[in-house]
Amino acid sequence: MTGEAPEAAVEGQGESRPDPLGQVFSLADFEPLAEALMDRAAFDYIAGGSGAEITLRENVDAFRRRRLRPRVLVDVTEIDLSTDVLGTRVALPVGVAPMAFQHFAHTDAEAAMARGAAGAGALFCLSTMSSLPLEQVAFAADAAADGPLATHPRWFQLYVHRDRGLSRDLVARAEAAGYTAIVLTVDLPVAGYRESDMRNGLAYPERFGNFDAGPTGGRPITEVIAGFNDRGLTWEDVAWLRGVTALPVVVKGVMTGEDAVRAVIHGAAAVWVSNHGGRQLDPVHATIDVLTEIVDVVEGRVEVYLDSGVRRAPDVVMALAMGARMVFVGRPFYFALGVGGEAGVRRAFELLTAELGITMALLGAPSIGRLRRRMVEP
Ligand code: FNR
Ligand code: LAC
Repeated sequence: MTGEAPEAAVEGQGESRPDPLGQVFSLADFEPLAEALMDRAAFDYIAGGSGAEITLRENVDAFRRRRLRPRVLVDVTEIDLSTDVLGTRVALPVGVAPMAFQHFAHTDAEAAMARGAAGAGALFCLSTMSSLPLEQVAFAADAAADGPLATHPRWFQLYVHRDRGLSRDLVARAEAAGYTAIVLTVDLPVAGYRESDMRNGLAYPERFGNFDAGPTGGRPITEVIAGFNDRGLTWEDVAWLRGVTALPVVVKGVMTGEDAVRAVIHGAAAVWVSNHGGRQLDPVHATIDVLTEIVDVVEGRVEVYLDSGVRRAPDVVMALAMGARMVFVGRPFYFALGVGGEAGVRRAFELLTAELGITMALLGAPSIGRLRRRMVEP
């Protein structure tokens, strides 16, 4: 891993059409290109937040307020960006967050997303509400990667169906298809109050890839979720889930130390700090502003991850230095998928890798293990 600037991608380039991926030099560059390509309602569904969108903005701003404290005269000849997550080595400390219905962005949907992540040796998390069946996504990822499953791990995110048998089957299928952790999302008993979706009359597509969620076609997302999602879920259900799978259970959507402690007590293998990218309760704190509270109460008993508002390499580095083991990115990958399919996702990983290499070298931290909390000033 070196800190060299990436070359412009050439895949999919036509004679007369300039390659859009060649114009992309940061994750943020995908968004306007995706906006120009995508249907308005679909774009707003992805980009938007809930309520007054205070959290949506705050997630990004809270990173911008922090500053790094570099150490100099550290040998940075070799930069190692790999790390261990739930006992698996991954090439990068950044994974793809689970995001619903990727057909909104690209016809190859989650298959292209998973292939892009697998190509980078990065962790990919599939949503319960994926456009494609989880088996098809697993197959696509395995075909794209040149190594064993351990070189391109995948996790499965669970929304629990009121029909528990259905969720149990889904989890069993995920296990059989080589997903290595179940990520239980706990911050969505109901969908957030999303005005842009109401204004646009966002209608959900006809079919879910993974299961029959009842009538979804043409319905707003609030109704689609209300149609299957169990809003009666409690901490006891973490034990239920642990009882139906041998896989580690990650609890996603924790925002307080109190709940982080409960997750540990109830046997979670990891706590995923998330406010759903500002799409659920608004206003809440930015995740980076609650990370220290959570890392401190967890005291290393389980791994801690973070998402929401991560847009650049320094954001990743700050979260890791402050105690997160892994960072996940949502929207920028969705837009990358919209702009270039698998090649777009690969490009996003290329840019992140290059920027991370440079950031770590300049910070004086040649590996993830060399990051320290005092390298970040609040
Ligand atoms: C999401 N997110 C999400 N989370 C989840 O657990 N299951 C899901 O199906 C979805 N669906 C979904 C769709 C879209 C369009 C977005 C943007 C997000 C939340 C996601 O996993 C993650 O928490 C946030 O996206 C992280 O914030 P950023 O990186 O988008 O700011
Ligand atoms: C969303 C849900 C599906 O954020 O997680 O749109």
